[in-house]
Amino acid sequence: MDRIVSWSVLVSVVSHKLFILIDLLIITGHYSKMGDSCGSNGHDAVTRVLFCGPYWPASTNYTKEYLQNYPFIQVDEVGLEQVPDVIQNYHLCVVKNRRIDSDIIAKATQMKIIMQYGVGLEGVDINAATEHKIKVARIPGSTTGNAVSCAEMAIYLAMGVLRKQKEMDTAVNRKDLGVPVGETLFGKTILILGFGAIGVEVAKRLRPFGVKVLATKRNWSSDTLPCDVDEMVDKKGGSENMYEFAGEADIVITCMALNNETVGIVDHKFISSMKKGSYLINIARGRLLDYNAVFNHLKSGHLAGLGIDVAWMEPFDPEDPILKFPNVIITPHVAGVTEYSYRTMAKSVGETALQLHSGEPFTEIEFVN
Ligand SMILES: *[C@@H]1O[C@H](CO)[C@@H](O)[C@H](O)[C@H]1NC(C)=O
Ligand SMILES: *[C@@H]1O[C@H](CO)[C@@H](O)[C@H](O)[C@H]1NC(C)=O
Ligand SMILES: *[C@@H]1O[C@H](CO)[C@@H](O)[C@H](O)[C@H]1NC(C)=O
Repeated sequence: MDRIVSWSVLVSVVSHKLFILIDLLIITGHYSKMGDSCGSNGHDAVTRVLFCGPYWPASTNYTKEYLQNYPFIQVDEVGLEQVPDVIQNYHLCVVKNRRIDSDIIAKATQMKIIMQYGVGLEGVDINAATEHKIKVARIPGSTTGNAVSCAEMAIYLAMGVLRKQKEMDTAVNRKDLGVPVGETLFGKTILILGFGAIGVEVAKRLRPFGVKVLATKRNWSSDTLPCDVDEMVDKKGGSENMYEFAGEADIVITCMALNNETVGIVDHKFISSMKKGSYLINIARGRLLDYNAVFNHLKSGHLAGLGIDVAWMEPFDPEDPILKFPNVIITPHVAGVTEYSYRTMAKSVGETALQLHSGEPFTEIEFVN
């Protein structure tokens, strides 16, 4: 494993050295690239990468570090409101939580690729990008540690609500001991909504806790599923089983992508189908949950707790009434933000920029258009 990794690192280092050399030869006029092979970036000597907005700062920092020895790649981060004014200067764009809609895309006259530092692409108007001949890509989460990081966070939040994190803080501040009484994961039934890369990693990690795992997925014949899926999941279902499974679960963990079919999927009907006293965890996207439905079921006590890494608006108003419930915990959209996943994704963005510059095939990303 290590050997494979270092071999590929070696190969990529060697190939980049080669490109630096070719670039030097071009600058000194000793060599000219064939045809328009001076890179699919167009004709510029520098390939420019734009990070949109100030959030998730490590994404920009780590990408800059990864590319520090390649002066022909320029990495910039600009504020969200500046994006439309500068986007025409860039070849590669990494969206964060800035929606890149058709107006902005129309201005991106040199843009070749729009990507996300992660898996979700709901921030990009893909149809508009396609119209403007801009490719849109994601970094597959199963290879970067993103899915693993998100899965660990789901377990952290589940245990946080089960052990009553806010009440524990209160007890510490009051110098109480031995309260609150928490609950175990052991013995619980857990429904994973959406069994993609993250859902799979959640199920794997839940197994050793002694839980029953239910999962729903639109298409179980997908070839990306691990072969031992039957050992990870006790009961598999489709969207049509969602409400029935919700009625059996003590904890529901949402792991789906946000799209037209899934927005607000955890609504009044769904939460009413959940057991009284059950818990809800969301590490995917805030708008999968219907705010009013969640709020009302927390208020009535039907939901025993809510643990969310993502919110309806981000950044989320710290004074929002939903955060006043003692059994609601929130984290600042960090599920995928670990050294492991961020260094790996920096490599993916960095390699993509280098490949765009040189015109080599793209090896790190998955195009969606
Ligand atoms: C990112 O870089 C900026 C500027 O160098 C620095 O102030 C900030 O602390 C860094 N943040 C992270 C999370 O790496
Ligand atoms: C399910 O996935 C398989 C394999 O990827 C594919 O062949 C099949 O068409 C899909 N079925 C549906 C209903 O999308
Ligand atoms: C999703 O819904 C929006 C608004 O209703 C619509 O503009 C968009 O085209 C839809 N996208 C897809 C992929 O169906």
